[in-house]
Amino acid sequence: MATLIIKSGGRAAFAEWQQHFADCAPGLRTVFWDDAQDADYALVWDPEPGRLAAMPGLRCVFGAGAGVDLIVRDPDWPRHLPLVRMTPTGAAQRMGEYVAWAALHLIRGGRRMALSQNDGRWEDFDHPSAPDVRVGLMGLGVMGTRAAGMLRALGFPVAGWSRAPKGIEGVQEFIGPDALPAFLARTDLLICLLPATQATRHILAAPLFAQLPRGAMLINAARGWHQKLDDVLAALDSGQLSAAVLDVFEPEPLPPDNPAWSHPRLTVTPHVASLPSRAERARFVAEQIAVLEGGGVPGPLYDAVRGY
Ligand code: NAP
Ligand code: GLV
Repeated sequence: MATLIIKSGGRAAFAEWQQHFADCAPGLRTVFWDDAQDADYALVWDPEPGRLAAMPGLRCVFGAGAGVDLIVRDPDWPRHLPLVRMTPTGAAQRMGEYVAWAALHLIRGGRRMALSQNDGRWEDFDHPSAPDVRVGLMGLGVMGTRAAGMLRALGFPVAGWSRAPKGIEGVQEFIGPDALPAFLARTDLLICLLPATQATRHILAAPLFAQLPRGAMLINAARGWHQKLDDVLAALDSGQLSAAVLDVFEPEPLPPDNPAWSHPRLTVTPHVASLPSRAERARFVAEQIAVLEGGGVPGPLYDAVRGY
C-alpha cells in the first residue's frame, strides 16, 4: 500500500486530510509529516529544507498550492522527482472569481465606499464601466487564462503578457520583455498572475508603474515576491496608481504595523485569492496518484529549467 506524507496545514489539518483521502483513495495510507521519515508521496506547502531530500522512497511531490516557490527554495529539494502543482479545476475558477471581484471593486470604488460607510458619509461619485477599462494580465497560465475569460465576459477589453503565444480568443497578446512597454502603455488595470522566478522578482515597482497611464489600477494575486510594497504605496500617494488590491505580501502575514493596512486607496486581502477546499485538493492528488500508479505522467509539473 502506497503512503502519502502530509504537511500542508500542519497537524491541525491532518484529520481532515485523512478523512478526504479515505473517501477518495481508500487504498492510500496517509501519515502526518512529523510521524514518519519516508513515504511514496508527499503533500507539502513549505517543507523544512532538506526533509524531502532525506526521503529515499519518494516518487512524487505534490505542492499544496499552484505556486511551488516555497518547495523549490529548498536548495536540496529532490529535483529528479516530478513536482505537481495543485491545479484542480476549482483553483483557476476561484482565481477568476477573485480577479473579477477585485476588478469590479476597483472600478466601482469599493475601498472608498467602505471608508465612507465607516464614517457614516453618503458620498456618490462617478466611476468607469468595464468596457472603458483596458485590463492587462501579466501571466496567461492556468490562472491567467481563466481570469482572462471571466474578465472578458464582464466586458473588459483584455490583453495578456507571457513568454509564448497562447492564441486565447479575444485576448490581445504581448510576448516577451520587448513587448512589455507597449503592453503597459495600453493598460488601465494591471493584474499580476506571474510565477515567482528570478525574472519576475520585484517586477511591480516604480519603473514599471511609470510606464502605465497615470491613475492606472493594480491587482497582485500572485506572490509578494513580485512587488516592492513601498513603491506601490508611493505610487498610490503620488496618483500614478489610483487604487490597488493586493492579496500577497512578503512576509505573510502582513505585520499589523505595516502602513499598507490603512492606506485609503489600497485593499488588502490575506492570501485568499484561490484556495480550493481540502476535499477538492485531495481528489486532485488521488487522481494524480492513480495516473502515476498506472505508469502515466501527472501534471501540471513544475519545470526546473523554466523555473515555474
Ligand atoms: P503558470 O500556469 O505557471 O503561468 C505562469 C504564466 O506566467 C505563464 O503564462 C507564463 O508564460 C508567464 N510568465 C512566466 N514568466 C514570465 C516572464 N518572465 N515574462 C512574461 N511572462 C512570464 O502559473 P499559475 O498557476 O497561473 O499561477 C500564477 C501565479 O499565481 C503564481 O505566482 C502562483 O503562485 C499564484 N497563485 C496565487 C494564489 C493566491 O491565492 N494568491 C493561488 C494560486 C496561484 P508562458 O505561458 O509563455 O510560459
Ligand atoms: C496559492 O497561493 C497557490 O499557489 O495555490
